[in-house]
Amino acid sequence: MPKKLAAGNWKMNGLRQALAEVQALHAACPEPTCDVVICPPATLMRSMVKTCADMKIEVGGQDCHENTSGAHTGDISAPMLADTGASYVILGHSERRASYSETDDQINAKTRAAWDAGLTAIVCIGETLDERESGKTLHIVGDQLAGSVPDGATPASLVIAYEPVWAIGTGKTPTLDEIAQVHGFIRESLQTRFGADGLEMRILYGGSMNPINANEIAAIANVDGGLVGGASLKASDFSTIVQVLST
Ligand code: PGA
Repeated sequence: MPKKLAAGNWKMNGLRQALAEVQALHAACPEPTCDVVICPPATLMRSMVKTCADMKIEVGGQDCHENTSGAHTGDISAPMLADTGASYVILGHSERRASYSETDDQINAKTRAAWDAGLTAIVCIGETLDERESGKTLHIVGDQLAGSVPDGATPASLVIAYEPVWAIGTGKTPTLDEIAQVHGFIRESLQTRFGADGLEMRILYGGSMNPINANEIAAIANVDGGLVGGASLKASDFSTIVQVLST
């Protein structure tokens, strides 16, 4: 079974004082046995890398451009993220797919750029409520997976995050059976495409994961961790999730 991963997505939250949450997380779980990564806003990345230097906490970006440099005002490239000391990057988050019309092709190119810079890509996929209600979940998830993930993925370079769009930030989650069904489908697809490596690639669940539901979600087959938004901002909440994923 792959080692579990607790990934915190801070989104557009956090000023310098929020670094105290990372210290508190370390104090609460100094020796997690799962992998832990926090993806803060770009403005905090370098200081977070320094804060985490002696901790078992890695740092990731929330997006990157597909090019390494150039005339792209406001964008950040994968080598720039790596230059801060980051080791992961979230790509294709539904908020970026929705706000910036990111396509699977673009996410595929960004993933290749992340790999070229030595970063592990956390590629997000998931259906909207309309898509779920019209029975298209597996179709949508399958298409996003096929389109967003480049050939050549390995368990070290790729993490998939299944995030139903309607569960993000809403306090709603799919039933345990629904999560099991989609994660099982993603596992099968990864195995079909990447063989034995597909069994080792981590599949995270994301969308309103919290200290209360983490236990039962983490126990589902093929759930190898969580991509956690709101509940990653407070050390008291995120440390509970890290502890659950460490058991
Ligand atoms: P949430 O966000 O945990 O606040 O629902 C998850 C995510 O968007 O990655």
